[in-house]
Amino acid sequence: MKTILITGGAGFIGSHVVRGFVKKYPHYHIINLDKLTYAGNLANLKDIENEPNYEFVKEDITDAEGMNAVFQKYSIDGVIHLAAESHVDRSISNPMEFIFTNIVGTVNLLNAARLSWKENTEQKRFYHISTDEVYGSLGETGHFTETTAYDPRSPYSASKASSDHLVRAYFHTYKLPVVISNCSNNYGSFQFPEKLIPLSINNIRNNKPIPIYGKGENIRDWLFVEDHARAIDLIFHEGKSGETYNIGGNNEWTNISLIRELCKIMDRKLNRPKGTSEQLITFVKDRAGHDLRYAIDSSKLQRELGWKPSLQFEDGLEKTVDWYLANEKWMNNITSGDYQKYYESQYVKR
Ligand code: NAD
Ligand code: TYD
Repeated sequence: MKTILITGGAGFIGSHVVRGFVKKYPHYHIINLDKLTYAGNLANLKDIENEPNYEFVKEDITDAEGMNAVFQKYSIDGVIHLAAESHVDRSISNPMEFIFTNIVGTVNLLNAARLSWKENTEQKRFYHISTDEVYGSLGETGHFTETTAYDPRSPYSASKASSDHLVRAYFHTYKLPVVISNCSNNYGSFQFPEKLIPLSINNIRNNKPIPIYGKGENIRDWLFVEDHARAIDLIFHEGKSGETYNIGGNNEWTNISLIRELCKIMDRKLNRPKGTSEQLITFVKDRAGHDLRYAIDSSKLQRELGWKPSLQFEDGLEKTVDWYLANEKWMNNITSGDYQKYYESQYVKR
């Protein structure tokens, strides 16, 4: 019996990782540790919450004593650390939350693991989940590899870069058995509707403007969230300590062409005449310091661990739209209350 601590398991990617592990590894005890911020939602895990190998613990990773207590209470064999403040726009308006959670929170977990595991680390693993945004912004050509120099440009990416450096420092200094992965933009079910795709689906459904920053020429490399969760499973079990693995979809889209594709799918699904949803596209003030382009070279992960993305983007997007349309209640619950305040400050009062 192994005990695996997954942080941020009530969030978007974390819920897919928790679900995958609970179902695939009945002999693992899966502890989902989450503070349940605005982005954490236990409804994301309704289908597995009563499984005997699953346990939820409400804790804040910025609480150092709390983290030590968790490691004292449970004999933890592995950590998969996803808990973070994750939205660039929020990091622009409120950077301090990102410093506390992403940097201090990560160090608290590293310290708790180190204190608890001591020299006895042979069967242990500390897996830190990170983003391609740490590498900065690309021009029209080139890809991020594992050796691309860090050049973060938003408070979010700078806080993630900082946490990556600290994780590596604990490997070199204290021999903590760490592994890191840096992934491109994810999409799929259970994503909080502050991010481009679920926000746009929800707005189209409600006949509201689709806000596109600047001219919509920025490029992102989109990966289906279940492909990311599969990569996390593989790297957790087979990745080499001290190594970094880049994960990406090899699937670059400008924001405007992605939204046009989404509009076509939405027209079809909602039985609206062709071209209806596109009329909702509204160009708004650009994001401050908006990174132009991200693109990941995931050949190391493909070559060494045999991973590859499973879905064509058009199919993944259609599947994603189907999910959001079938789960209106999930969306309506999230977008009531505080979401409206966020939406107004981000899009109405600018
Ligand atoms: P998310 O915002 O959907 O979820 C974050 C989760 O962390 C939430 O459940 C939240 O309650 C929890 N959390 C936040 N602060 C906490 C704290 N102080 N203590 C305990 N729990 C806390 O994020 P996501 O999109 O699922 O991203 C998960 C991880 O993957 C993050 O580390 C992010 O940097 C990384 N990542 C995300 C993407 C992406 O496209 N979404 C891409 C690459 C990497
Ligand atoms: P987002 O989903 O916030 O992810 P990230 O900033 O981590 O890449 O944004 C994806 C892209 O979409 C990014 O270039 C910013 C852009 N964007 C908009 O044009 N409008 C929006 O309302 C949002 C949220 C994002």
